[in-house]
Amino acid sequence: LWNAHSKRFLLLRSRDFILQGLHTDLDVGGKNIKYVLAGEGAGTIFAINELTGDIHAMKRLDREEKAEYTLTAQVVNADTDEPLEPPSEFIIKVQDINDNPPQFNEGPYRAAVPEMSAVGTPVTRVTATDADDPVYGNSAKLVYSILEGQPYFSVEPNSGTIKIALHGMDREMREEYLVVIQAKDMGGHMGGLSGTTTVTVTLMDINDNPPKFSKSLYEFVIPEDLPVGKMGGKVKANDRDIGENSKSTYSIIEGDDQGMFEIVTDGQTQEGILRLKKPIDYESKRSYTLRVEATNVRSEPSSGGPFKDTATVKVVVEDSDEPPVFLKPVYVLEVNENAPVNTVIGAVTARDPDSTGSLVRYFIDRHTDLERQFNINVDDGKITLAKPLDRETDMWHNITVTATEVRNHSQISRAIVAIRVMDINDNAPEFATEYEAFLCENGKPGQVIQTVSAVDKDDPIQGHYFDYRLVPEMLNNPNFTIKNNQDNSISVLAKHDTFRRQKQEMYFLPIIVTDNGNPPMSSTNTLTIRVCGCSKDGIVQSCNVEAYVLPIGLSMGALIAILACIILLLGEVFLCCGVISVNWFDRCTLTLSFCISVLKSFNLFYPVLTI
Ligand SMILES: *[C@@H]1O[C@H](CO)[C@@H](O)[C@H](O)[C@H]1NC(C)=O
Ligand SMILES: *[C@@H]1O[C@H](CO)[C@@H](O)[C@H](O)[C@H]1NC(C)=O
Repeated sequence: LWNAHSKRFLLLRSRDFILQGLHTDLDVGGKNIKYVLAGEGAGTIFAINELTGDIHAMKRLDREEKAEYTLTAQVVNADTDEPLEPPSEFIIKVQDINDNPPQFNEGPYRAAVPEMSAVGTPVTRVTATDADDPVYGNSAKLVYSILEGQPYFSVEPNSGTIKIALHGMDREMREEYLVVIQAKDMGGHMGGLSGTTTVTVTLMDINDNPPKFSKSLYEFVIPEDLPVGKMGGKVKANDRDIGENSKSTYSIIEGDDQGMFEIVTDGQTQEGILRLKKPIDYESKRSYTLRVEATNVRSEPSSGGPFKDTATVKVVVEDSDEPPVFLKPVYVLEVNENAPVNTVIGAVTARDPDSTGSLVRYFIDRHTDLERQFNINVDDGKITLAKPLDRETDMWHNITVTATEVRNHSQISRAIVAIRVMDINDNAPEFATEYEAFLCENGKPGQVIQTVSAVDKDDPIQGHYFDYRLVPEMLNNPNFTIKNNQDNSISVLAKHDTFRRQKQEMYFLPIIVTDNGNPPMSSTNTLTIRVCGCSKDGIVQSCNVEAYVLPIGLSMGALIAILACIILLLGEVFLCCGVISVNWFDRCTLTLSFCISVLKSFNLFYPVLTI
């Protein structure tokens, strides 16, 4: 339709070659006019017949590519190209036809839904699009239908929502389904275009299966020497579920009152590992019948239960060759130190615990008895003394004794035998040190010359008690006496004050010391007493010969006197080398007698003479 003064619409159906005429009111006879076309697609898509004004589409048109074209038309003088009227704009609209099928742009789809879901449970939703004009006709009106996947699933025709359609779908029966969905335009009617997509639906596991033991009776043969904590056997409860839903814990529910066994779950294999909690012993119990239970870790109350299973486990204890067993792990024996060689000190006993018990032989581990102090009887385990003992050298002899099966020499066990050597009174007491006693010339009667104590190597349980006595022939000694200090020591006292070095410079006092052992032991120890000159306070200043040897005993005065004598004597000797006169003898005699009197006054006469 054409009108030069108003906009006119032309509707073209897509892909049609449509011709429409343009006419002008000016088109009056004889005038030389022509029609000119401009705008979108002029000359390429659209062409105009200059004479008639008919417009041709030169190509197929596609609404989904471009739905509208805006063009202008004008009437001009054919000779001069002068416009005879103003240009007039018009729009060409391309009319839709159903030339696009629905498309699932997001497919193929994957979806998951728990097994055993109720009918009508939504699984997922699929959506198709159609490029055709949604407002014109039904070209884009889509309807969904299910091509494959029945009777398990259904699809809502309008929304594309896929739902469970069958009751009780079990993952353990079948886990995966392929659903094919079709979308059809034209409202699903005949002649519409269609597209399909697939949906892979996976059923998710729920805990709907109980564990089930692979056997109802397991039998394990376990050697009696199987260490505690070591595996004795395995049970397995299978569960058709997967993941957490298939996990079980195992427990012993019957037959283990003594708590000998435990069953733990191997997290990797889901097996129940039977282990020992206490050592088993063939000789005391040969079989156990246990009832074990497997329980699902995860409890799903909605899916029923209880999800557990039980089985019987029979444990047969197997005899194994065990080493001999000593009645005691440690023996403590005692023997007197004076016990003669071959004395029986004691005995050890070991038995083979096996039902077919073997004889046992005994040995001493010689590394523990390097001096071969002891012997053992190989047959009866009696330990005897091989060499004399001395408690004062070794109080303990801790040896290792082995017991070996006669039948199988590799079955050995050991026990420690601690032999304690018991004290007997075999040592006499003696003075604690070599006492050096001094006595002051000017001391009073009753002065304490020396305190004396004794020691004894023995170690009696009741402790030491020493008895000190003067030897019988000195019991009435006029010079010294002894006094008991009541603390296992004595004091030696002087009986008078008339001791003089000139008379007797040294005294010997034999003392008998006796212990309280059974029988008692005694020894005679002689105390040497020197007579010395002392200061008024009783400090020893010089004693007989020995005192001089220790120059500390010499006073300053004595030293000066000795030096003076030597100088004088030397002077005399020099003089006599010159002139020997009668006078010289006199002078020498005078000097000598002076020196002697000086030395005498300092109690040094005898020592110097000795030199
Ligand atoms: C020997 O064994 C006894 C008792 O077990 C112990 O008191 C002592 O110290 C041990 N002696 C040695 C030298 O091992
Ligand atoms: C006592 O001492 C005197 C000298 O002072 C001596 O002759 C006598 O032998 C001494 N007696 C004994 C028993 O030592």
